[in-house]
Amino acid sequence: MFQEALDSLVNDVDGKYVDCTFGQGGHSRGILSLLSTKGALASFDLDELAEIEAKKIKNPNFTFHKTNFKNIADHFNDNELDGILIDCGVSSPQIDEPKRGFSFMKDGPLDMRFGEQLQMSCESIVNNYPYEELVRIFKEYGEEIESKRIAREIIAKREQDRIVSTKQLSSLIENVKKIKTKKNPATKVFQALRIEVNQELDNLKICLDNAKRLLKKNGKLVVISFHSLEDRIVKNSFKMEHYLHEKDLPLINEKVQKKEFLVSSVITPDECELASNVRSRSAKMRVVTKL
Ligand SMILES: C[S@@+](CC[C@H](N)C(=O)[O-])C[C@H]1O[C@@H](n2cnc3c(N)ncnc32)[C@H](O)[C@@H]1O
Repeated sequence: MFQEALDSLVNDVDGKYVDCTFGQGGHSRGILSLLSTKGALASFDLDELAEIEAKKIKNPNFTFHKTNFKNIADHFNDNELDGILIDCGVSSPQIDEPKRGFSFMKDGPLDMRFGEQLQMSCESIVNNYPYEELVRIFKEYGEEIESKRIAREIIAKREQDRIVSTKQLSSLIENVKKIKTKKNPATKVFQALRIEVNQELDNLKICLDNAKRLLKKNGKLVVISFHSLEDRIVKNSFKMEHYLHEKDLPLINEKVQKKEFLVSSVITPDECELASNVRSRSAKMRVVTKL
């Protein structure tokens, strides 16, 4: 989907683009390679490693902002951008580094913040949130059906001693869960906590609302999501704006004029990408065009 994302995003090589999630700069470098000397790219990320990587790009038409992508509207005017890319979630180097606390496979501190400027770590949620709030986030953001049992056990354990490491938390979940599946028992709770720590769904909603105004006519928004909660936000965000589904186009061409956005069907990775990149298995891409 890497090439498809770039091809969908860049429709004017002299245009102005934003990559909201620089990560290790794969997409940003790809976009820059397509642009002419008149084109420009601004990339965002909260992560320090991303900033270090971005500094290696010596292209005068490239700028990096170490800030939350929800603030995108502070940097651009309405109808200014030709394309905006959001590649949601966590990057591979973030998962692979035990100190960041994203992985239940490796022992590390319960952190999970995309950037050190974020106030709340996973440790403070696990040790301070009331029972009802823990149940809510495990249910809503993890779709974890044993939320209550896990939250009860967290409360009981933290009364004896603070829960501070990923291994402590993942072992607790493993011991308490009754329903066994092929997935690691901690998968859903870790996803839920990461979403809460980084306020991922709220940030995505705010960014999409801003993107609507910042895009030019014919401007493209490309969103790559990794779970149904994110994809639902993308769909719902454009439903409210009377979006038109791509598959309806040949039937109701005359109605296009009344619509503001065109949303593509979901695009998923092909077999080749799935074979070479296991983490891409849950990826979904949507392309939105401002009409
Ligand atoms: C899946 S990675 C992006 C990978 C990137 N497309 C690449 O080619 O390397 C997601 C990145 O988004 C960043 N991120 C997530 N939420 C963010 C937010 N609200 N503001 C800024 N950056 C964010 C994370 O720190 C992470 O580096």
